[in-house]
Amino acid sequence: ITRKLQFNVGRKKMSFLGIDLGTSSVKILAIEKDGTIIGSASKEYPVYYPKPNHAEQNPQDWWEGVKGAMKQLVGEHPRLASDVESISFSGQMHGLVALDKNNEVLTPAILWSDQRTQEECDEITKGIGQENLTKYTSNKALTGFTAPKILWVKKHLPEVFEKIEHIMLPKDYIQFKLTGNYATDVSDASGMLLLDVKNRKWSREMIDFLGIKEEMLPKVFESYEVTGTVKEAVKQELGLTGCGEILVAAGAGDQAAGAIGAGVVEDGILSVVLGTSGVVFVSEEEYAVDTQNRLHSFCHANGKYHQMGVMLSAAASLKWWIDEIQKDTKNPYDVLQEEANKVSPGSEGLYFLPYLLGERTPYSDADARGCFIGLTISHKRAHMTRSVLEGVIFGLRDSLEIVKEISQGDGIREVRLSGGGAKSKLWRQIVADIFGIPVHLTNATEGAAFGAAILAAVAADAYDSVDEACKALIATTQVTNPIPEHVEAYNKHYKIYNSLYSTLQSTFNEIAKNN
Ligand code: XUL
Repeated sequence: ITRKLQFNVGRKKMSFLGIDLGTSSVKILAIEKDGTIIGSASKEYPVYYPKPNHAEQNPQDWWEGVKGAMKQLVGEHPRLASDVESISFSGQMHGLVALDKNNEVLTPAILWSDQRTQEECDEITKGIGQENLTKYTSNKALTGFTAPKILWVKKHLPEVFEKIEHIMLPKDYIQFKLTGNYATDVSDASGMLLLDVKNRKWSREMIDFLGIKEEMLPKVFESYEVTGTVKEAVKQELGLTGCGEILVAAGAGDQAAGAIGAGVVEDGILSVVLGTSGVVFVSEEEYAVDTQNRLHSFCHANGKYHQMGVMLSAAASLKWWIDEIQKDTKNPYDVLQEEANKVSPGSEGLYFLPYLLGERTPYSDADARGCFIGLTISHKRAHMTRSVLEGVIFGLRDSLEIVKEISQGDGIREVRLSGGGAKSKLWRQIVADIFGIPVHLTNATEGAAFGAAILAAVAADAYDSVDEACKALIATTQVTNPIPEHVEAYNKHYKIYNSLYSTLQSTFNEIAKNN
């Protein structure tokens, strides 16, 4: 009797767990097959910044966090002690975890946000050549990615490098603790600069260039494939003793898992995340790559591919404007947005460049800076707030334009908006107007953790495919339509916005050099 049949004969209730291993905390979400949320729990852990440009975490903290959150979740929902069917993951991407021959962590994990590897990125790009790098990995070398971190360890910590037996990504360490197997998934592995994305396998050329052995890398799975089962001793530790065999599925990088959680699994739907950072993510039926590598070309968690643009300071720009510059305003989010709502699209010629943390897509320029451009004496605070909201979305439109250029033309019919910024009615309207595409909110508000739980359900055969699960579980609850006159006005303003970076690039470099 297959698992599929077991579901159909209506066996006892079952739960599926999604573990979202984030940068500030881990969250575990439990759902039923029909998407009903059973409950969730989370635990925080620190990020260490031992030097400028360095960002590290202790993998042991992640595991303690998982154990703590699981204990809390099972305590609050005792049924989970005996009915968990499967577990999967969403993970902060790109981080380097290195283990020795005894599976001990050799050095703190170097995180996605760590910026120490510019020299190693240059070494990779020069040594391999960008054309070949695109051929081998579909991407370019970025400081956040994993391969340059491996080179950094080789150069700066040779005694550590010599002892490395296993290399993995953050969520794969939790997968390892649960099953004892070395496994990763195609979507997360895509961000290592070691995966041949097109063929969904490790790149021989990259392995040779880095001077590592293929055996050091985990086995590559599709996100919804089973990598193993939870070890008996670990079941005890997690309080899951009453469960039968618990399947573990490979899981996905947080952006791919978030897209699954928003049902972004087919052409024509764009996922836009307005979190601290901003993301434009599109699912592709067929492999495609931007020859200029402005977008990341990665494997998707549903067996297909995706393209992604990442803006470093999205909701972070609004937070900066409110927390730092308007900190004496009472109820600032409501008050400032109400004011901004009265200003006409384009903020009367005021533009905000949201490069407060430099920028990743489309410029890959750590020196880029934020600015207001076009100020006149008649501009007020309301114009400045509105231009911050608009500048972030103009920045995301840069990624949309590349998606249109390289793959989907005018075929994008729907934006699915998520992240904290999606709560703002004004911002939703600005996205609809600047993109010229209806903006949808969905019933699924648990994001990447929900996507991870869906992957667990598919691995346990509760659904035939990730796409089928998304269709069954995720629906639109609210639509914001573009206002034609605003779309027209914004098309003109976008042209001006889009010209500003190239005009200012050398000035940004000078500022960075001298400060
Ligand atoms: C994606 C990326 C982030 C991190 C942190 O490229 O860098 O999504 O995974 O969440």
